[in-house]
Amino acid sequence: MKIAVIGAGYVGLVTGACLADSGHDVICVDKIPEKIEKLNAGIMPIYEEGLEELVSRNTKAGRLQFTTDLDQAVSAAQAVFIGVGTPPLETKDGDYAAADLKYVRSAAEEIANAMQDYTVVINKSTVPVGTAQMVAEIIQSTNSQAQFSVVSNPEFLREGQAINDFMKPDRIVVGLSDDKAKAVMQQVYKPLIDRGVTYLETTPETSELIKYAANAFLATKIGFINEMANLCEAVGANVEELSKGIGTDNRIGQAFLKAGPGFGGSCFPKDTEALIHIANEYDAPVSIVKSVVVSNMNRRMEMLHKIISVCKGNVNGKNIAVLGLTFKANTDDVRESISQTIVPELLKAGAQVRVYDPQGMEEFKHMNLDIEYASSVEDCITKADAVIILTEWKEFQQANWKSLKDKMTLPVVIDLRNLLDANQMTESGFDYHCIGKLSDSASDLLRKMA
Ligand code: UGA
Repeated sequence: MKIAVIGAGYVGLVTGACLADSGHDVICVDKIPEKIEKLNAGIMPIYEEGLEELVSRNTKAGRLQFTTDLDQAVSAAQAVFIGVGTPPLETKDGDYAAADLKYVRSAAEEIANAMQDYTVVINKSTVPVGTAQMVAEIIQSTNSQAQFSVVSNPEFLREGQAINDFMKPDRIVVGLSDDKAKAVMQQVYKPLIDRGVTYLETTPETSELIKYAANAFLATKIGFINEMANLCEAVGANVEELSKGIGTDNRIGQAFLKAGPGFGGSCFPKDTEALIHIANEYDAPVSIVKSVVVSNMNRRMEMLHKIISVCKGNVNGKNIAVLGLTFKANTDDVRESISQTIVPELLKAGAQVRVYDPQGMEEFKHMNLDIEYASSVEDCITKADAVIILTEWKEFQQANWKSLKDKMTLPVVIDLRNLLDANQMTESGFDYHCIGKLSDSASDLLRKMA
């Protein structure tokens, strides 16, 4: 099937490359000529494992192309995916940010003007309830002759695992209201449906809400386990064992019960706020999601206080090494990451900060902070009075901490991802602090003291 994808950003690019790999004939369209030039030269605009190879394989096979020419791509396509950004709108203080639909609206207009025969227009972008209807109205009013259907088809891709998530999804959700669109969508996803992937057909409104509800539910699990981590610290329990203890109950599930510094990234913070905004608009408030947002905001300051208190109440003039800037491992994305709060706060408190991240440093430089960028873990921690781990990169876990200890001024490690082995760190002589648990040796000590 001939498919056009509007927007060669994270969602559009992964969707386009994966659909091409499933055997479709795909053209990805983007307004930024440099991005298209680079893609045509095999240079990816984002870091995503496996993407470069996937793009290269499919462009060579002639199934995947990149262009700035939307008219040409859309006029030839039977299915057109909209994968443009829906960033949060500016809000007044205290308001919850709605999604900004300006890119979706202009894509809909341009698609309407370029359409030739019957076309299915598919919203892949994360959009509020009612957007499929809005896109249909825009197309109708822009081109009254247009023959089309609008479908909602949210993505559930995780950064760092996006290709696997697309190719082996837990489910595919499509929201549509007519049989013609049904047939086209079943054709688009035939290779996955044939492999037995759960394929859920529903209304556009339900489909749009499924996306927000899924992200809000996952964010709620994280918020919950982080509060349990605080409680574990207070009562002397272990949050990792607690996660296992509740997560092995099938009704709860083990995933997304890893305590940490709070959720970040371009999705959970934005989508939880957008869901609250939608719920308020429809006068059906979602108080649970609201408290998750507040709890996650508080989490950032809790983490800062933890760091300051480990540093004996004062970081002024101290050398602090920060390992990890991205909002999670295996991405170069630093949007809404805990580092964006912690690093400026440490600077404000008078610390000298040196950072290292395997992928996120270029993006972080846009914050224009007065910090040093190190070239390796060792370079970052040398002469540090304390090391803070903010992201769960394997490279940090695999470092030889025993030998790194001598490079530090003080052997203090604050591991906000529970990445390192608490017992080994304590045994190696580190003053090691993590989340929601004490190391065994520290617990033994406390028991002896009691
Ligand atoms: C998330 C969802 O997982 C995807 O299903 C969804 O498609 C995507 O948003 C989106 O809406 O586009 P992503 O933002 O890539 O994906 O990242 P996650 O892996 O979900 O992690 C989000 C945040 O939660 C990270 O900061 C991560 O460190 C944190 N997290 C995750 C925890 O603190 N604990 C956990 O147990 C899991």
